[in-house]
Amino acid sequence: MNPVEIIGKKRDGIELTREEIRYFIEQFIAGSIPDYQVSAWAMAIYMRGMSREETVELTMALAESGEIIDLSPVLKFAIDKHSSGGVGDKTSLVALPLVVSFGVPVAKMSGRGLSLTGGTLDKMESISGYNVNLSMKEFMDQIDKYGIVLAGQTADLAPADGKLYALRDVTATVSSKPLIASSIMSKKIASGADAVVLDVKAGLGAFMQTVEDAEDLAQIMVDIGKGAGKKVTALISDMNQPLGYAIGNALEVREAIDTLQGTGPADLVEHCIVVAGQMLRLAGISTARDLSDIRERVEEKLSNGEAWEKFRTLVRAQGGDLSQIDQPDTLPRAPVVIEERATRSGYLQTINAREIGFAVLHLGAGRQVKDATIDHAVGAVVHHKVGEYVRKGERLFTIHARDADSADVARSRILNAHVWSERPGMPLFYNTLFSE
Ligand code: URA
Repeated sequence: MNPVEIIGKKRDGIELTREEIRYFIEQFIAGSIPDYQVSAWAMAIYMRGMSREETVELTMALAESGEIIDLSPVLKFAIDKHSSGGVGDKTSLVALPLVVSFGVPVAKMSGRGLSLTGGTLDKMESISGYNVNLSMKEFMDQIDKYGIVLAGQTADLAPADGKLYALRDVTATVSSKPLIASSIMSKKIASGADAVVLDVKAGLGAFMQTVEDAEDLAQIMVDIGKGAGKKVTALISDMNQPLGYAIGNALEVREAIDTLQGTGPADLVEHCIVVAGQMLRLAGISTARDLSDIRERVEEKLSNGEAWEKFRTLVRAQGGDLSQIDQPDTLPRAPVVIEERATRSGYLQTINAREIGFAVLHLGAGRQVKDATIDHAVGAVVHHKVGEYVRKGERLFTIHARDADSADVARSRILNAHVWSERPGMPLFYNTLFSE
Protein backbone atom coordinates (compact mmCIF):
# COMPACT_ATOMS: atom_id res chain seq x y z
CA MET A 1 0.00 0.00 0.00
CA ASN A 2 1.11 3.53 -0.73
CA PRO A 3 0.29 6.52 1.51
CA VAL A 4 0.11 8.88 -1.48
CA GLU A 5 -2.56 6.72 -3.08
CA ILE A 6 -4.54 6.57 0.14
CA ILE A 7 -4.35 10.36 0.54
CA GLY A 8 -5.35 10.79 -3.13
CA LYS A 9 -8.29 8.41 -2.75
CA LYS A 10 -9.66 10.36 0.19
CA ARG A 11 -8.96 13.67 -1.57
CA ASP A 12 -11.14 12.40 -4.45
CA GLY A 13 -13.95 11.43 -2.08
CA ILE A 14 -13.53 7.66 -2.44
CA GLU A 15 -14.32 5.52 0.60
CA LEU A 16 -11.26 3.94 2.22
CA THR A 17 -11.15 0.27 3.10
CA ARG A 18 -10.56 -1.13 6.58
CA GLU A 19 -7.08 -2.25 5.47
CA GLU A 20 -6.15 1.19 4.14
CA ILE A 21 -7.22 2.94 7.35
CA ARG A 22 -5.40 0.38 9.52
CA TYR A 23 -2.29 0.58 7.34
CA PHE A 24 -2.22 4.39 7.50
CA ILE A 25 -2.53 4.51 11.28
CA GLU A 26 -0.06 1.66 11.88
CA GLN A 27 2.57 3.20 9.62
CA PHE A 28 2.02 6.65 11.17
CA ILE A 29 2.65 5.25 14.62
CA ALA A 30 5.65 3.28 13.38
CA GLY A 31 7.11 6.55 12.04
CA SER A 32 7.09 5.44 8.39
CA ILE A 33 4.43 7.93 7.32
CA PRO A 34 5.67 11.44 8.10
CA ASP A 35 3.64 14.23 9.70
CA TYR A 36 3.20 16.12 6.41
CA GLN A 37 1.46 13.16 4.77
CA VAL A 38 -0.73 12.59 7.80
CA SER A 39 -1.62 16.29 7.78
CA ALA A 40 -2.62 16.06 4.11
CA TRP A 41 -4.70 12.97 4.89
CA ALA A 42 -6.41 14.73 7.79
CA MET A 43 -7.21 17.66 5.51
CA ALA A 44 -8.65 15.29 2.90
CA ILE A 45 -10.87 13.75 5.62
CA TYR A 46 -11.80 17.23 6.80
CA MET A 47 -12.89 18.22 3.27
CA ARG A 48 -14.49 14.94 2.20
CA GLY A 49 -15.78 13.46 5.44
CA MET A 50 -16.00 9.76 6.22
CA SER A 51 -18.75 7.17 6.05
CA ARG A 52 -19.99 5.66 9.32
CA GLU A 53 -18.00 2.47 8.54
CA GLU A 54 -14.80 4.44 7.92
CA THR A 55 -15.33 6.40 11.15
CA VAL A 56 -15.78 3.19 13.18
CA GLU A 57 -12.64 1.72 11.56
CA LEU A 58 -10.64 4.85 12.30
CA THR A 59 -11.88 4.83 15.91
CA MET A 60 -10.84 1.21 16.41
CA ALA A 61 -7.49 1.72 14.64
CA LEU A 62 -6.74 4.68 16.95
CA ALA A 63 -7.92 2.80 20.05
CA GLU A 64 -5.91 -0.29 19.18
CA SER A 65 -2.76 1.68 18.35
CA GLY A 66 -1.88 1.16 22.02
CA GLU A 67 -2.97 -0.69 25.07
CA ILE A 68 -6.66 -1.18 25.92
CA ILE A 69 -6.85 -0.57 29.64
CA ASP A 70 -8.72 -2.93 31.90
CA LEU A 71 -9.91 -1.05 34.97
CA SER A 72 -11.89 -3.98 36.34
CA PRO A 73 -9.31 -4.93 38.99
CA VAL A 74 -9.90 -1.54 40.68
CA LEU A 75 -13.31 -0.42 39.40
CA LYS A 76 -16.48 -2.48 39.20
CA PHE A 77 -18.00 0.00 36.75
CA ALA A 78 -15.92 2.73 35.13
CA ILE A 79 -17.68 6.02 34.37
CA ASP A 80 -16.08 8.72 32.33
CA LYS A 81 -17.00 12.05 30.79
CA HIS A 82 -15.65 13.92 27.80
CA SER A 83 -16.27 17.34 26.37
CA SER A 84 -15.93 18.03 22.66
CA GLY A 85 -14.11 21.22 23.66
CA GLY A 86 -15.24 24.68 24.63
CA VAL A 87 -14.16 28.10 25.89
CA GLY A 88 -14.04 28.44 29.67
CA ASP A 89 -15.04 24.80 30.07
CA LYS A 90 -13.74 23.77 33.48
CA THR A 91 -16.55 21.25 34.06
CA SER A 92 -14.29 18.23 34.75
CA LEU A 93 -12.64 20.05 37.65
CA VAL A 94 -16.03 20.29 39.35
CA ALA A 95 -18.02 17.31 38.04
CA LEU A 96 -15.42 14.68 38.95
CA PRO A 97 -15.18 15.50 42.67
CA LEU A 98 -18.95 15.96 42.71
CA VAL A 99 -19.54 12.42 41.45
CA VAL A 100 -16.86 11.03 43.75
CA SER A 101 -18.56 12.69 46.73
CA PHE A 102 -21.40 10.19 46.17
CA GLY A 103 -18.99 7.31 46.71
CA VAL A 104 -18.73 6.64 42.96
CA PRO A 105 -15.05 6.42 41.97
CA VAL A 106 -13.90 8.21 38.80
CA ALA A 107 -10.67 7.59 36.91
CA LYS A 108 -10.24 10.09 34.10
CA MET A 109 -7.61 10.61 31.45
CA SER A 110 -7.83 14.10 30.00
CA GLY A 111 -6.31 16.03 27.14
CA ARG A 112 -4.53 19.31 26.58
CA GLY A 113 -5.96 22.39 24.91
CA LEU A 114 -6.84 22.08 21.27
CA SER A 115 -7.01 25.16 19.02
CA LEU A 116 -9.09 27.81 20.82
CA THR A 117 -10.44 25.41 23.44
CA GLY A 118 -8.72 24.89 26.76
CA GLY A 119 -7.56 21.53 28.09
CA THR A 120 -8.14 20.07 31.54
CA LEU A 121 -4.49 19.02 31.93
CA ASP A 122 -3.25 22.53 31.19
CA LYS A 123 -5.66 23.90 33.78
CA MET A 124 -4.63 21.42 36.47
CA GLU A 125 -0.96 22.16 35.80
CA SER A 126 -1.60 25.73 36.97
CA ILE A 127 -1.41 24.17 40.44
CA SER A 128 2.26 23.83 41.21
CA GLY A 129 3.44 20.27 41.65
CA TYR A 130 0.28 18.70 40.22
CA ASN A 131 1.50 15.70 38.27
CA VAL A 132 -0.52 14.70 35.22
CA ASN A 133 2.04 12.13 34.06
CA LEU A 134 1.13 9.02 36.03
CA SER A 135 2.30 5.55 35.10
CA MET A 136 -0.42 2.97 34.64
CA LYS A 137 0.48 1.49 38.02
CA GLU A 138 0.28 4.89 39.75
CA PHE A 139 -3.05 5.57 38.01
CA MET A 140 -4.52 2.25 39.20
CA ASP A 141 -3.09 2.58 42.72
CA GLN A 142 -4.55 6.06 43.08
CA ILE A 143 -8.05 5.07 42.03
CA ASP A 144 -7.86 2.12 44.38
CA LYS A 145 -6.70 4.25 47.29
CA TYR A 146 -8.55 7.56 46.80
CA GLY A 147 -11.36 6.81 44.34
CA ILE A 148 -10.36 9.77 42.16
CA VAL A 149 -7.66 10.32 39.56
CA LEU A 150 -7.31 12.94 36.82
CA ALA A 151 -4.24 12.48 34.66
CA GLY A 152 -2.98 12.70 31.10
CA GLN A 153 -3.43 9.82 28.80
CA THR A 154 -0.50 7.45 29.21
CA ALA A 155 1.87 7.36 26.24
CA ASP A 156 0.41 4.01 25.37
CA LEU A 157 -3.26 5.01 25.42
CA ALA A 158 -4.44 5.50 21.84
CA PRO A 159 -0.99 6.91 20.93
CA ALA A 160 -2.05 7.44 17.34
CA ASP A 161 -4.79 9.77 18.54
CA GLY A 162 -2.29 11.77 20.60
CA LYS A 163 -0.06 12.27 17.56
CA LEU A 164 -2.94 13.01 15.22
CA TYR A 165 -4.60 15.37 17.74
CA ALA A 166 -1.38 17.43 17.95
CA LEU A 167 -1.13 17.67 14.15
CA ARG A 168 -4.80 18.57 13.71
CA ASP A 169 -4.41 21.33 16.25
CA VAL A 170 -1.90 23.16 14.04
CA THR A 171 -3.26 22.30 10.58
CA ALA A 172 -6.82 23.65 10.88
CA THR A 173 -8.30 20.15 10.74
CA VAL A 174 -9.95 19.99 14.14
CA SER A 175 -13.63 20.63 13.46
CA SER A 176 -14.39 17.54 11.44
CA LYS A 177 -17.10 15.16 12.70
CA PRO A 178 -15.32 11.87 11.85
CA LEU A 179 -12.01 13.15 13.23
CA ILE A 180 -13.56 14.41 16.48
CA ALA A 181 -15.79 11.36 16.94
CA SER A 182 -12.96 8.89 16.35
CA SER A 183 -10.57 10.90 18.54
CA ILE A 184 -12.94 11.06 21.50
CA MET A 185 -14.36 7.55 21.24
CA SER A 186 -10.98 5.87 20.64
CA LYS A 187 -9.80 7.29 23.98
CA LYS A 188 -12.95 6.26 25.79
CA ILE A 189 -12.72 2.72 24.37
CA ALA A 190 -9.00 2.43 25.12
CA SER A 191 -9.32 3.83 28.64
CA GLY A 192 -11.67 1.06 29.69
CA ALA A 193 -14.81 3.14 30.33
CA ASP A 194 -18.00 1.16 30.78
CA ALA A 195 -20.16 4.28 30.52
CA VAL A 196 -19.52 7.79 29.23
CA VAL A 197 -21.24 11.17 29.42
CA LEU A 198 -20.39 13.17 26.32
CA ASP A 199 -20.71 16.94 26.53
CA VAL A 200 -21.06 18.00 22.91
CA LYS A 201 -20.82 21.73 22.49
CA ALA A 202 -22.68 23.77 19.88
CA GLY A 203 -22.11 27.38 19.00
CA LEU A 204 -19.61 30.06 18.12
CA GLY A 205 -16.91 28.77 20.48
CA ALA A 206 -17.35 25.09 19.63
CA PHE A 207 -16.00 22.92 16.87
CA MET A 208 -19.64 22.36 15.87
CA GLN A 209 -21.27 25.71 15.20
CA THR A 210 -24.89 24.60 14.95
CA VAL A 211 -27.09 22.47 17.18
CA GLU A 212 -27.81 20.19 14.17
CA ASP A 213 -24.10 19.52 13.59
CA ALA A 214 -23.54 18.90 17.30
CA GLU A 215 -26.46 16.44 17.36
CA ASP A 216 -25.01 14.68 14.34
CA LEU A 217 -21.61 14.40 16.00
CA ALA A 218 -23.25 13.20 19.22
CA GLN A 219 -25.22 10.53 17.38
CA ILE A 220 -22.07 9.22 15.64
CA MET A 221 -20.37 8.91 19.04
CA VAL A 222 -23.39 7.32 20.74
CA ASP A 223 -23.55 4.72 17.94
CA ILE A 224 -19.81 3.99 18.11
CA GLY A 225 -20.04 3.62 21.90
CA LYS A 226 -23.08 1.37 21.71
CA GLY A 227 -21.36 -0.77 19.08
CA ALA A 228 -18.43 -1.17 21.47
CA GLY A 229 -20.75 -2.22 24.33
CA LYS A 230 -20.63 1.07 26.29
CA LYS A 231 -23.48 3.04 27.83
CA VAL A 232 -23.36 6.57 26.42
CA THR A 233 -25.34 9.72 27.26
CA ALA A 234 -24.69 12.73 25.04
CA LEU A 235 -25.62 16.24 26.14
CA ILE A 236 -25.76 19.02 23.56
CA SER A 237 -24.78 22.21 25.34
CA ASP A 238 -24.48 25.85 24.40
CA MET A 239 -21.07 27.27 23.55
CA ASN A 240 -21.99 30.62 22.01
CA GLN A 241 -20.68 32.44 25.07
CA PRO A 242 -17.94 31.22 27.44
CA LEU A 243 -18.98 28.83 30.20
CA GLY A 244 -18.77 30.76 33.48
CA TYR A 245 -16.80 34.00 33.44
CA ALA A 246 -13.14 32.94 33.46
CA ILE A 247 -11.11 31.88 30.41
CA GLY A 248 -7.45 30.88 30.85
CA ASN A 249 -5.87 28.17 32.94
CA ALA A 250 -5.25 29.50 36.47
CA LEU A 251 -8.24 31.84 36.20
CA GLU A 252 -10.43 28.84 35.44
CA VAL A 253 -9.02 26.86 38.35
CA ARG A 254 -10.02 29.76 40.63
CA GLU A 255 -13.53 29.73 39.23
CA ALA A 256 -13.76 25.95 39.60
CA ILE A 257 -12.73 26.35 43.26
CA ASP A 258 -15.48 28.96 43.77
CA THR A 259 -17.95 26.54 42.22
CA LEU A 260 -16.79 23.68 44.44
CA GLN A 261 -17.23 25.99 47.41
CA GLY A 262 -20.80 26.85 46.42
CA THR A 263 -20.20 30.33 44.99
CA GLY A 264 -19.73 29.61 41.29
CA PRO A 265 -21.43 31.36 38.38
CA ALA A 266 -25.00 30.13 37.87
CA ASP A 267 -24.46 28.76 34.35
CA LEU A 268 -21.34 26.82 35.33
CA VAL A 269 -23.01 25.45 38.47
CA GLU A 270 -26.00 24.23 36.46
CA HIS A 271 -23.75 22.74 33.79
CA CYS A 272 -21.70 20.80 36.33
CA ILE A 273 -24.82 19.57 38.13
CA VAL A 274 -26.23 18.17 34.89
CA VAL A 275 -22.97 16.53 33.75
CA ALA A 276 -22.31 15.04 37.20
CA GLY A 277 -25.97 14.05 37.51
CA GLN A 278 -25.89 12.15 34.23
CA MET A 279 -22.70 10.39 35.31
CA LEU A 280 -24.46 9.40 38.52
CA ARG A 281 -27.43 8.16 36.52
CA LEU A 282 -25.16 5.93 34.45
CA ALA A 283 -23.74 4.67 37.74
CA GLY A 284 -27.25 3.76 38.90
CA ILE A 285 -27.45 6.41 41.66
CA SER A 286 -30.28 8.18 39.84
CA THR A 287 -33.02 6.65 37.73
CA ALA A 288 -34.65 9.80 36.37
CA ARG A 289 -33.54 11.02 32.95
CA ASP A 290 -34.30 14.59 34.06
CA LEU A 291 -32.30 14.00 37.29
CA SER A 292 -35.25 15.11 39.41
CA ASP A 293 -34.56 12.35 41.95
CA ILE A 294 -31.00 13.49 42.60
CA ARG A 295 -30.69 17.20 41.81
CA GLU A 296 -31.12 18.42 45.38
CA ARG A 297 -28.49 16.04 46.70
CA VAL A 298 -26.04 17.09 43.97
CA GLU A 299 -26.60 20.76 44.83
CA GLU A 300 -26.04 19.97 48.48
CA LYS A 301 -22.63 18.37 47.80
CA LEU A 302 -21.50 21.69 46.33
CA SER A 303 -22.83 23.78 49.19
CA ASN A 304 -21.74 21.51 52.06
CA GLY A 305 -18.09 21.25 50.99
CA GLU A 306 -18.06 17.50 50.29
CA ALA A 307 -17.20 17.93 46.60
CA TRP A 308 -14.54 20.49 47.52
CA GLU A 309 -12.95 18.01 49.93
CA LYS A 310 -12.73 15.45 47.08
CA PHE A 311 -10.98 18.04 44.90
CA ARG A 312 -8.45 18.58 47.69
CA THR A 313 -7.98 14.81 47.92
CA LEU A 314 -7.29 14.71 44.17
CA VAL A 315 -4.79 17.57 44.25
CA ARG A 316 -2.98 16.14 47.27
CA ALA A 317 -2.82 12.64 45.75
CA GLN A 318 -1.19 13.99 42.59
CA GLY A 319 1.39 16.12 44.34
CA GLY A 320 -0.29 19.51 43.93
CA ASP A 321 0.32 22.35 46.35
CA LEU A 322 -2.72 22.36 48.64
CA SER A 323 -1.90 25.79 50.05
CA GLN A 324 -2.31 27.20 46.55
CA ILE A 325 -5.86 25.93 46.13
CA ASP A 326 -6.74 26.81 49.71
CA GLN A 327 -5.62 30.37 48.93
CA PRO A 328 -6.42 30.68 45.22
CA ASP A 329 -4.85 34.16 45.08
CA THR A 330 -1.49 32.38 45.17
CA LEU A 331 -2.17 30.58 41.87
CA PRO A 332 -0.14 32.02 38.95
CA ARG A 333 -0.95 35.69 38.33
CA ALA A 334 -0.26 37.74 35.22
CA PRO A 335 1.76 40.96 35.66
CA VAL A 336 -0.51 43.11 33.47
CA VAL A 337 -4.17 43.35 34.47
CA ILE A 338 -6.43 45.75 32.61
CA GLU A 339 -10.07 46.38 33.20
CA GLU A 340 -12.38 47.44 30.41
CA ARG A 341 -15.52 49.39 31.27
CA ALA A 342 -18.70 49.66 29.21
CA THR A 343 -18.82 52.83 27.13
CA ARG A 344 -22.60 52.57 26.75
CA SER A 345 -25.62 51.07 28.46
CA GLY A 346 -27.64 48.26 26.96
CA TYR A 347 -28.34 44.55 26.86
CA LEU A 348 -25.64 42.12 25.83
CA GLN A 349 -26.83 40.21 22.80
CA THR A 350 -23.64 38.22 22.11
CA ILE A 351 -20.41 37.51 23.97
CA ASN A 352 -18.67 35.66 21.17
CA ALA A 353 -16.92 32.67 22.71
CA ARG A 354 -14.89 32.03 19.57
CA GLU A 355 -13.36 35.52 19.51
CA ILE A 356 -12.65 35.34 23.22
CA GLY A 357 -11.13 31.86 22.84
CA PHE A 358 -8.75 33.11 20.16
CA ALA A 359 -7.90 36.26 22.10
CA VAL A 360 -6.93 34.15 25.12
CA LEU A 361 -5.01 31.71 22.92
CA HIS A 362 -2.97 34.64 21.57
CA LEU A 363 -2.35 35.89 25.09
CA GLY A 364 -0.43 32.61 25.53
CA ALA A 365 -2.96 30.41 27.34
CA GLY A 366 -3.04 27.89 24.47
CA ARG A 367 -0.70 26.54 21.80
CA GLN A 368 -0.30 27.97 18.32
CA VAL A 369 2.40 25.45 17.39
CA LYS A 370 2.56 21.82 18.41
CA ASP A 371 4.99 21.85 21.34
CA ALA A 372 4.63 25.46 22.50
CA THR A 373 4.71 26.04 26.24
CA ILE A 374 1.69 27.77 27.65
CA ASP A 375 1.32 30.58 30.11
CA HIS A 376 -0.91 29.47 32.99
CA ALA A 377 -1.43 32.96 34.36
CA VAL A 378 -2.92 34.76 31.36
CA GLY A 379 -6.52 34.93 30.22
CA ALA A 380 -9.65 36.98 30.51
CA VAL A 381 -12.64 37.31 32.78
CA VAL A 382 -15.91 38.54 31.31
CA HIS A 383 -18.19 40.12 33.88
CA HIS A 384 -21.60 39.47 32.33
CA LYS A 385 -23.70 36.88 30.56
CA VAL A 386 -25.75 37.25 27.39
CA GLY A 387 -29.09 38.94 28.06
CA GLU A 388 -27.87 41.03 31.00
CA TYR A 389 -28.35 44.78 31.15
CA VAL A 390 -25.05 46.60 31.59
CA ARG A 391 -24.79 50.25 32.63
CA LYS A 392 -22.27 52.62 31.09
CA GLY A 393 -19.12 52.64 33.24
CA GLU A 394 -19.66 49.13 34.68
CA ARG A 395 -16.86 46.60 34.32
CA LEU A 396 -17.21 44.68 31.05
CA PHE A 397 -14.17 42.39 31.15
CA THR A 398 -10.69 42.10 32.62
CA ILE A 399 -7.55 40.99 30.79
CA HIS A 400 -4.66 39.21 32.47
CA ALA A 401 -1.60 39.45 30.21
CA ARG A 402 2.15 38.95 30.20
CA ASP A 403 2.77 42.40 28.67
CA ALA A 404 0.96 45.56 27.60
CA ASP A 405 1.16 44.82 23.85
CA SER A 406 -0.55 41.44 24.05
CA ALA A 407 -3.11 42.91 26.45
CA ASP A 408 -3.95 45.58 23.92
CA VAL A 409 -4.52 43.10 21.09
CA ALA A 410 -6.75 40.96 23.32
CA ARG A 411 -8.60 44.05 24.53
CA SER A 412 -9.83 45.07 21.08
CA ARG A 413 -10.71 41.50 20.14
CA ILE A 414 -12.74 40.91 23.30
CA LEU A 415 -14.39 44.32 23.01
CA ASN A 416 -15.59 43.38 19.52
CA ALA A 417 -16.84 40.06 20.88
CA HIS A 418 -19.41 41.99 22.94
CA VAL A 419 -22.43 42.84 20.80
CA TRP A 420 -25.09 45.17 22.21
CA SER A 421 -28.83 45.24 21.85
CA GLU A 422 -31.65 47.53 22.91
CA ARG A 423 -33.78 44.53 23.90
CA PRO A 424 -33.36 42.06 26.75
CA GLY A 425 -32.45 38.41 26.31
CA MET A 426 -31.47 36.45 23.28
CA PRO A 427 -33.60 37.38 20.31
CA LEU A 428 -35.85 34.53 19.24
CA PHE A 429 -36.02 35.87 15.71
CA TYR A 430 -33.21 37.86 14.15
CA ASN A 431 -35.02 39.32 11.22
CA THR A 432 -38.19 39.15 9.11
CA LEU A 433 -38.08 39.45 5.33
CA PHE A 434 -41.22 40.21 3.32
CA SER A 435 -41.72 39.89 -0.43
CA GLU A 436 -44.65 42.32 -0.57
N1 URA B 1 -11.63 16.39 22.00
C1 URA B 1 -10.94 15.30 21.60
O1 URA B 1 -10.55 14.46 22.41
N2 URA B 1 -10.66 15.17 20.32
C2 URA B 1 -11.07 16.05 19.39
O2 URA B 1 -10.80 15.85 18.24
C3 URA B 1 -11.80 17.18 19.80
C4 URA B 1 -12.07 17.33 21.13
